[in-house]
Amino acid sequence: MTKLAVFASGTGSNFEVIADTVASGELKAELVLMVCDVVGAPVVEKARKRGIDVLEFNPKSYASKAEYEAMIVAELQKREVDLIALAGYMRILRDTMLSAYEGRIVNIHPSLLPAFMGKDAIGQAIRYGVKVMGVTIHYVDSGMDSGKIIAQEAFKVESGMSHEEIEARVHGIEHKLYTKTLSKLIEEMEA
Ligand code: GRF
Repeated sequence: MTKLAVFASGTGSNFEVIADTVASGELKAELVLMVCDVVGAPVVEKARKRGIDVLEFNPKSYASKAEYEAMIVAELQKREVDLIALAGYMRILRDTMLSAYEGRIVNIHPSLLPAFMGKDAIGQAIRYGVKVMGVTIHYVDSGMDSGKIIAQEAFKVESGMSHEEIEARVHGIEHKLYTKTLSKLIEEMEA
């Protein structure tokens, strides 16, 4: 069975859906670790409540990114992790992580990449006035939201939709698309 780790920094709604889909058996993987770079973030409690192993760390306690990435890689290797899903993990990965897990790290981003990379993608798209928005799942490389695209789903922004309604729509799509895409990737990896 594919061993999966999820990295998150904040709320963890995507983590929650992944964890629950694994628990129900619909996503055929073993969720062996949740990695969080923000001590006390809400996602940590969500993982603990579900009995999932948590690696919670403060990047400032390490001399460099290479040093804390080496610590993370050691924890992943100890658990024989096969696949990493970033779900609201707000840090760029560097060579230590990327070389250890090349082609096996994916991310979810709340825009139709390559439009609106980086932070507050939903806000950026709303301010631009785009009429079609969506969600992207892509491989992670050394850039910000720049890796090869795996899956996308779009929706039409109806006139009069509020910021909150748009956000809810984006997150609703994310929650379905991430587990569906992970399932497909895992099937391909195991074939
Ligand atoms: C999501 O919108 C995801 O696309 C982005 O960060 C957000 C994380 O939300 N990368 P949550 O913590 O999963 O609720």
